[in-house]
Amino acid sequence: MIITIDGPAGSGKSTVAQLVAEKLGYKHLNSGSLYRAITAYFIENDIYDTNNSKFNKKIDNLSIKIEFINNVQHVFVNNVDYTSKLRDLKVSELSPYFSVNKKIRTIVDNCQKIFASKNNIVIDGRDIGSFVFPNADYKFYLDCSIDERARRRLIELKDKNKSVLFENIKKMISARDEFDKNKKEAPLIVPKNSIIIDSTNLNVNEVVNNMLNYLQV
Ligand code: DC
Repeated sequence: MIITIDGPAGSGKSTVAQLVAEKLGYKHLNSGSLYRAITAYFIENDIYDTNNSKFNKKIDNLSIKIEFINNVQHVFVNNVDYTSKLRDLKVSELSPYFSVNKKIRTIVDNCQKIFASKNNIVIDGRDIGSFVFPNADYKFYLDCSIDERARRRLIELKDKNKSVLFENIKKMISARDEFDKNKKEAPLIVPKNSIIIDSTNLNVNEVVNNMLNYLQV
């Protein structure tokens, strides 16, 4: 069984995917973390963009593997576990650029397909129901207004004692949306035949229950 959840950055798809997976006893696969692990690997090898010969040498021999350890997804690149580096600032900054590389996308797609062939999964990302698993059993698109995403992000940052202006966060989110929707490789779109849920006025449990209501598993 494959359940896909796509949507813009900050729409809450990963949190929701984790909870839906827990309810069903499925594995939650976060596709962004695969791109992040590969980015972390390149940063560790002093490679910061995909236009250099060092990148080309490494990419052709790169292997990626997903393992669940104590129910937590770990990502290995060339047999090294990059899980603890996935949220590093540099990784967040550079992963959008590495993730548009065609070779990287093929590696990630294959890894996701192999994993899905052996497990029941709830997988979230930006191109999952549209490009990776167009024939998934259930496909969701989780939307949310920019204002609400900015409000949620602001609360998160305040919890971390960081002060940023609401308007600046909104600008960052808009720029991110534009990048994701207009990129050449696998742009963010609403997948064909997907169930659209707008989480702007819903809390996490409401979104999860909404999804579970659609699922006959
Ligand atoms: O969702 P995230 O921020 O963890 O994703 C990390 C990067 O990977 C981000 O630049 C978007 C990209 N990504 C992608 O291109 N396709 C996906 N299915 C998931 C993430």
